[in-house]
Amino acid sequence: MRPADRADLWWRAAVIYCLDIEKFQDSDGDGVGDIDGLIERIEYLAGLGVSCLWLMPFQSTANRDDGYDITDYYGVDSRLGDLGRFVELIRVAHDRGMRIIIDLVINHTSDQHPWFVSARSDRDSPYRDFYVWRDAPPEDQGENVFPDTEEGIWTKDDATGQYYLHHFYSHQPELNFANPTVRAEIARIIGFWLQLGVDGFRIDSVPFVIEPPGVPDEADPHAFMRELHRFAGRRRGSGMLLGEVGLDHTDQLPYFGESGTELDLQLDFLIAQTMFLSFVRHDPQPLAEVLSQRPVVDLSQGWAMFLRSHDELSLELLGDTKQEVFETLAPDPRQRVYDRGIVRRTATMLEGDPRRVRLAHSLLFSLPGAPLIYYGEEIGMGEPGDTSGRDGMRTPMQWSSGRNGGFSSASESALVAPLTAGDFGPEHVNVYDQERDPGSLLNFVRTLIAQYRATPEIAWGDFAVIDVDEPGVLVHSCRSGTAAFIAVHNFEDEPCTVELPLTRIVEEDADIIDLLESADLDVAETLTIELGSYGHRWLRATARSPK
Ligand code: BGC
Ligand code: MG
Repeated sequence: MRPADRADLWWRAAVIYCLDIEKFQDSDGDGVGDIDGLIERIEYLAGLGVSCLWLMPFQSTANRDDGYDITDYYGVDSRLGDLGRFVELIRVAHDRGMRIIIDLVINHTSDQHPWFVSARSDRDSPYRDFYVWRDAPPEDQGENVFPDTEEGIWTKDDATGQYYLHHFYSHQPELNFANPTVRAEIARIIGFWLQLGVDGFRIDSVPFVIEPPGVPDEADPHAFMRELHRFAGRRRGSGMLLGEVGLDHTDQLPYFGESGTELDLQLDFLIAQTMFLSFVRHDPQPLAEVLSQRPVVDLSQGWAMFLRSHDELSLELLGDTKQEVFETLAPDPRQRVYDRGIVRRTATMLEGDPRRVRLAHSLLFSLPGAPLIYYGEEIGMGEPGDTSGRDGMRTPMQWSSGRNGGFSSASESALVAPLTAGDFGPEHVNVYDQERDPGSLLNFVRTLIAQYRATPEIAWGDFAVIDVDEPGVLVHSCRSGTAAFIAVHNFEDEPCTVELPLTRIVEEDADIIDLLESADLDVAETLTIELGSYGHRWLRATARSPK
């Protein structure tokens, strides 16, 4: 594909940075991060090399699920700013070469949303059918996503005597997508934000959106996804849909649709979970296996790779090996939630060991896909000691060792969320110090991003795992035309030497350069690579031009 065509399909090679405005930077001293604060920090993000911001929900909200409970899809939470400031943010980000995608939370509204307030006021409300109602909960009650707080997925509305559906909290009634008026409202919301200038959406909990009870069996649930994709593309050709589909690769495939008709990108949950399994075992094999088996998707689509997100690190896709990961990475039961996931960040799970944290980031940016950074991961932030469930990973960004970590000038008690204390708190882990330390994680991540962006084979090339004699080492290559990117990662604590079978990776005589270190590489049939404990190397081979 020509570089100009690749640029159109920008999402496949995007460097995405996910942040929550209220946790990023407070500009007016009220303790809550805001849009103006984010604008102040835009140079930081541009300097890091980010090409796309994913903004977590910032709309008007009842705020009982960190903004994922919206009360007005067209309004900005007044603590964070207003639409005028939002448009300024878009302009400033675009000016720095960054796109903006926003969360699209449409499985449910808040129970405070005027639609639901009306719907539950009277069975004859024009909004009644916006939600899913039953006289009695069906026999086969599905599972609630938050089993510690919710008993089931149907809650009785006493005033009108019927039950409404909610797979998430009971204050998040589910919208009824069988109703064409609801579908039209969602299209209008998408159209609104695209018109303001956003570049796409991260669609929250996609399977719950398109396969809700209430749609007659004979209907094709994916028809709605196709409709959304067509609509978004019609209103803005470069608009992108990134989907949260927490399934394994085979089950994710239908959500891409036939040849580019549904989601453009999907978060790769299986790789994220398996990566941590491989870390626990000091063995790249599980990761190598899922990577080799991952379906190859259309070039107009791709996978968003991540280590951590604002949600727990779910281990659901690991089956029986879940317990093994729990025991090593979350030894304290308070570090686990819902018997399925870990509420810790990468740096704390890997015990703050810089070698292992770097290994994880080196994988994130070298595995094929669009890398996604959850804010604070690039400096190695942690959680407050006494974990408070998912909130533990949602602490304010740590800018400096100064007052409130440079996040806000408010009094500490007014902060929107508590800061992390101890070894991973702002005193020890912050942007200011790491900017000035050439050996910091931040500078390392910045280098990885720069090299990722300069090496199109990673996102666009043909992927292969290369067998080598060292069982603790993963070697993978991404080939495109006459160039190949080669990455080598050591999952073990011991340094080692690997012989790379070069002739199996590049056919012709090749020039090889090291992308991260200055090293003289002596190329023959094999290439000998020295790796430190948990070490990594990034190489790029290009066919030697004829003399
Ligand atoms: C989000 C969660 C949220 C849930 C309910 C998820 O998929 O990532 O943070 O609690 O949707 O909206
Ligand atoms: Mg503020």
